[in-house]
Amino acid sequence: MKSRGVMGHDGCPKLGYSPPRRSVVIRIPMTDLFDFKNHRRRFAVVGHPVMHSKSPQIHEAFARQCNVSLAYEAIALDPIAFEQGVRNLQAGGMAGLNVTLPFKEVAFRLSDEVSERARIANAVNTLSFSENDQVIGDNTDGIGLVRDLQQNLSVSCADARVLIVGAGGAARGIAQPLLQTRPACMVIANRTASRARELAALIGSPGEVYPCAFDEISDPFDLVINATAASLSSEVPALPEAVFHSGSTAYDLAYADQPTAFMRWALGLGVAQAVDGLGMLVEQAAESFWIWHRQRPQTAPVMSTLRSGVR
Ligand code: ATR
Repeated sequence: MKSRGVMGHDGCPKLGYSPPRRSVVIRIPMTDLFDFKNHRRRFAVVGHPVMHSKSPQIHEAFARQCNVSLAYEAIALDPIAFEQGVRNLQAGGMAGLNVTLPFKEVAFRLSDEVSERARIANAVNTLSFSENDQVIGDNTDGIGLVRDLQQNLSVSCADARVLIVGAGGAARGIAQPLLQTRPACMVIANRTASRARELAALIGSPGEVYPCAFDEISDPFDLVINATAASLSSEVPALPEAVFHSGSTAYDLAYADQPTAFMRWALGLGVAQAVDGLGMLVEQAAESFWIWHRQRPQTAPVMSTLRSGVR
């Protein structure tokens, strides 16, 4: 049987395991739990940290657009009690959760059922709670990137030479959906070449995806995607300059108030365009919205609102 929330001393359901230190306790007001009048379905993004998340703003904007009644909040869960926190949110009446760092892998493991794309990514960013208490996991990151490239940026991946830089969790989430766009050539380059080999073998048949170290790159790519964690410390992966030609698109999965270090480096080398991951963020959210509400919101207006706040 699934665990249930316990009652706190103040009469509110107490959600989240409370270890002696560093605990995160989530209290949901009774009025929200029994919101019969509104029938507002409740959602949240869970992470650690999570207060910086733009997901509440994005999902609320989609909901207004599509006339969906929902409540969406950001909830920090304790890393040592993530699963218990999720179970308690489920028991407390949440309909679904978005999952962000550092919980995507553990969310995958706790799911009762996962989509094929989540299985390959080995990570889940969207949880849905079914009426029979099943936890269904999906991963919308890869399709979010592909939609941003194809629909918003008009970058055609088909027949393009595509380079994924990095072989960690972020790269794993996007590699298979990108391969499905049928690029002319897909290469995964990583600082630690053995991890690139592992990822290439996982997502493609032999000879379909080429793994390499940074210094093995000698020819330029049409699309170079930075899926490393380097941008988080304002670093640029040590790629050769030959990775770009004048028509290349440089795409950084990270986003910030200012162009990232990778974008600035690529622009300095004369690429056609350099973009950050804000579009992917909005598109992955739109796919989660579809999973939960079966409605496809327009992403462009939400993106421009966020962009005006970011820049
Ligand atoms: P994430 O889930 O964010 O992808 P991860 O699984 O720890 O995190 O993977 C981080 C990725 O960024 C790895 O590909 C890592 O390269 P290594 O496998 O060689 O560690 C890459 N990375 C991190 N910092 C980097 C840097 N300064 N230059 C190049 N690659 C970097």
